[in-house]
Amino acid sequence: MAFDRTIKIAPSILSADFANFGQEIQAIEAQGADWVHVDVMDGHFVPNLTFGPPAVAAFRKHVKTVMDVHLMIAPVDPYIEAFANAGADVITAHVEAGAHIHRTLQAIRATGAKAGVALNPGTPAEAVEHLLDLTDLICVMTVNPGFGGQKFIDMTGKVRRLREMIGDRPVHIEIDGGVDPTTAPLLAEAGADVLVAGSAVFKGGSVDTPEVYGANIRAIRAAAEGG
Ligand code: DX5
Ligand code: ZN
Repeated sequence: MAFDRTIKIAPSILSADFANFGQEIQAIEAQGADWVHVDVMDGHFVPNLTFGPPAVAAFRKHVKTVMDVHLMIAPVDPYIEAFANAGADVITAHVEAGAHIHRTLQAIRATGAKAGVALNPGTPAEAVEHLLDLTDLICVMTVNPGFGGQKFIDMTGKVRRLREMIGDRPVHIEIDGGVDPTTAPLLAEAGADVLVAGSAVFKGGSVDTPEVYGANIRAIRAAAEGG
C-alpha cells in the first residue's frame, strides 16, 4: 500500500446486498472502487450490529484492492488481532472508544496493518494532535456513526485543520458519512483523499446492473477531483 494523496473512493458494503457480499465486492472493484470499506458495529459503541472477524475474513477472499476496516466497537484492543488475522489492510479505531487510543494504535501497527483513528462529529481535531506519528489515516465522521444513509454534517473546517496539522506526514484523511457528488468537492478541497460512500455508490444498482455502481463512483470521483 504505497502512500499518495490522490482521491480514493471507498464504497461501504453496509449498503450492499447482505445475502451477496462476494459478488457485490467483485462488482464495485470491477467498477472502479479503490478501497473496500467494512463497517464493524457492536450494538454498544454504536446502536447497530454488523460483522465479526469470521465475516470479515470471508470478505477478504473477494477483495483485491484494500480492505479498510472501520471498528465502531468498544473495547477495541481485545479484537485487533482477530481483525488483522481476518486480513484487514487498514484497521481504524475511534478516539472515543476507550481511554487508551495511543496504545490501541500501537497495537494495530504491531500486527502489520495500517492504523487509523476516527473522530465523531463532536470530537475536535486536537484530539489526534499527539497521535499523528502513530497513525496512517484519520477518519473524519460526517455523520454520527451507526447507520448508512444519514444526513451529511459539514466538517470542512475540521478537515482543513487536520490537513495543516498533518503537514508532510504520510497520513490519509478519510471522510465517512453522507459523501455524494455534492458534498465530495468541499471535502477534497479541504484536504481529504479517501472518500467512503455507501448509499451514494450502491443506490440504483445491483450485481445485475453493476454499471450503475460504476457511474455512481465516477460521479463522486469527478466531483471531488474538480473541487
Ligand atoms: C456509518 C458508517 C459509514 C456508512 C456510510 O456509521 O461508518 O461507513 O456506511 O454510509 P453513507 O455513505 O450512506 O452515509
Ligand atoms: Zn465507516
